[in-house]
Amino acid sequence: MIAFKPANADDWAVIRHIAYTTWPDTFGHIITADQLDYMLNLIYNEESIRSQMSEKGHHYLLATLQEDPIGFVSYEIHFNSQPQLMIHKFYLLPEFQGVGIGTKALNLLSEIARKNGDKLLRLKVYYKNAKAIGFYERYGFRNAGSEETNIGNNYNILDNVMVKEV
Ligand SMILES: CC(C)(COP(=O)(O)OP(=O)(O)OC[C@H]1O[C@@H](n2cnc3c(N)ncnc32)[C@H](O)[C@@H]1OP(=O)(O)O)[C@@H](O)C(=O)NCCC(=O)NCCS
Repeated sequence: MIAFKPANADDWAVIRHIAYTTWPDTFGHIITADQLDYMLNLIYNEESIRSQMSEKGHHYLLATLQEDPIGFVSYEIHFNSQPQLMIHKFYLLPEFQGVGIGTKALNLLSEIARKNGDKLLRLKVYYKNAKAIGFYERYGFRNAGSEETNIGNNYNILDNVMVKEV
């Protein structure tokens, strides 16, 4: 059975493992190997994961199948002091994609948003990640512009911003 369980900072290695397993499959054909390594190191080192949770207000949920972690999502309520829930991260191990778990996670995030008085789900998705964009559109998200972020090392990331009312 699929469950979503709140993760804490001591789960950082599990989260990192899922990211390191999922990213090459998701981004290996759309960003360079150097950029992929750089971003994984930057975002998924122990200190970064801990500070996302303890300082930045990111809540992590681990998706589990019979207790085994198979993915994670992170989110922030009242993002930018607006009534919106920001989905920061959303990764399922490749072998568990396409069987409805992502939809379950979005349903749960919609419920969390509503419970906290947030009216909107918001996320950024890399503009070349066509598979994820198709999934979000299928769920009812619409495009709300784009955003470029300088992540250092001369890398600028272009993302589509997408939103959906809950
Ligand atoms: C994106 C992701 C979270 C989606 O979760 P998932 O469990 O694979 O998606 P689901 O199985 O719930 O798919 C739900 C629906 O979206 C549809 N869908 C999926 N990809 C689609 C696409 N590219 N275009 C159109 N529809 C798509 C499915 O057909 C399904 O529709 P149905 O209910 O009519 O059958 C997951 O695939 C994933 O982790 N991908 C790799 C990492 C990634 O890109 N994360 C997003 C970063 S922003």
